[in-house]
Amino acid sequence: MKAFICLLVIASALWLSAPLHRAMAQTADEVEMGNRLAAVLRAGRSVVSNSQSLINDPDIADKGLTGDVFYEQVIEAYLETNGQHPLADDLSDRERALTLTQLDAMISVIDESQGLINAEGLAFKGFIPAVFARLVNEKFVEDMASQAVVKVTAPMNLVRNRKARPDEWERQVIAEKFQDSAWPTGEAFYEATTINGKPAFRMLIPEYYSESCLACHGAPAGETDVTGFPKEGGQLGDLAGAISISLF
Ligand code: HEC
Repeated sequence: MKAFICLLVIASALWLSAPLHRAMAQTADEVEMGNRLAAVLRAGRSVVSNSQSLINDPDIADKGLTGDVFYEQVIEAYLETNGQHPLADDLSDRERALTLTQLDAMISVIDESQGLINAEGLAFKGFIPAVFARLVNEKFVEDMASQAVVKVTAPMNLVRNRKARPDEWERQVIAEKFQDSAWPTGEAFYEATTINGKPAFRMLIPEYYSESCLACHGAPAGETDVTGFPKEGGQLGDLAGAISISLF
């Protein structure tokens, strides 16, 4: 009898925890998807960053940086950082579809920017990682708005492009989590919530200034940078912004 009750207790515990396990597995999938979207975006930005002096060269008219060439470099950059091809065989259908759309968006943005990238006699063209990322995210959303949104945002006082302004959820996570000195550096925040009444899994991944950012976002605050914006006076390691991902 005792054994039977014991079994009953175990069985009901398992039964009760099954939905919880399902929910946890689902959360792990969403987090993995969010991290993947961020990693592909970062790989793309790093290729723009590594090509910046080529892009800024006023003397080379045909830079050879076509969408296809760019794509190969993104694959390489992703492989190097993540140890896996972004379109590895073991992806779920959703992972494959979203990753493909993101990579296609990058190819399109680079192809559509050929006139600018190859403009002769023009050194700084304003084609920088942040602009590239915004254009890619905008294109991604055109195709995927019903499934996913990727955006780069920032604390309100640092926002340069109005399109990057944080919404209420992003503003709150930045203020209450990322700007809290106790928040572990680099740790993402995620939550199952809603956007305009629609269920959404939201994820915010903080980003910080490295040395290379400070030419534009560093000190002295207010001085005009090469892009024409006033510098924010940021310091090495300060919170710069966040990659915001919504999955529906
Ligand atoms: C050459 C100057 C330059 C450098 C270097 C630079 N940025 Fe920016 N950053 C900009 C400009 C210009 C924008 C606005 C882009 C746009 O129009 O969307 C921007 C936008 C951003 C945004 C999006 C929010 C917003 O303000 O619109 C973040 C976050 C950001 N930068 C962080 C960084 C980080 C982190 C680095 C270093 C890894 C960096 N930036 C390097 C010029 C720069």
